[in-house]
Amino acid sequence: MVRDLGVKIDPEVDRVEVDGKEVTQPPKRYIILNKPAGYLTQLGPSQSGKRTLDELLRGVAVRVFPAGRLDYNTEGLLFLTNDGELANRVLHPRYKLPKVYHALVKGKVGRNRLRSLAKGTELEDGFAEPDSVRILEYMAGNTLIEITFHEGRKHIVKRYMAKMGHPVIKLKRVAIGPLRLGNLPSGKWRDLTESELRKLKRSVGLK
Ligand code: URA
Repeated sequence: MVRDLGVKIDPEVDRVEVDGKEVTQPPKRYIILNKPAGYLTQLGPSQSGKRTLDELLRGVAVRVFPAGRLDYNTEGLLFLTNDGELANRVLHPRYKLPKVYHALVKGKVGRNRLRSLAKGTELEDGFAEPDSVRILEYMAGNTLIEITFHEGRKHIVKRYMAKMGHPVIKLKRVAIGPLRLGNLPSGKWRDLTESELRKLKRSVGLK
């Protein structure tokens, strides 16, 4: 019988009962979602009436939480799980998980500008430097670039590109560490494969 609050148990070893009924843990769930633009990265209704992840996650039987966020008008890869330890590590700067974005930016990014884009710049909350940046395509006077950051400061891609003179028109995250968005349709989710989960855990120092 335990009467103190905050007693720690080991779920692998201990058996917990309340009033004679066993308390079981929900199974661990690991999901990627292709968030469309026009959704807030939050669970539950929003005060503003904007759409949230709830309606996209119908059919996921356990409650999962987003590890990281995307802006309302940003689309692409979100990783969601009820495994707190893994989520913390995915977010922790120590593990330097690269997040890859495809950004349609205003204007033509030429070779010289690309070189300065790779060097980094001072933002209002400190220096920012992408891990890599490359041009994917020129589109009607604008440029589609791929840019990778391993840090998660708010609006990092938009602020960085605006400072560089090429504001973002459209933004999509296509990868987080070993996870790839691939051809997952907009608004859909799927479970990680075993191989993806193994790689993700390994990339943040878990077995
Ligand atoms: N950087 C941004 O500016 N927005 C996002 O949603 C993610 C990264």
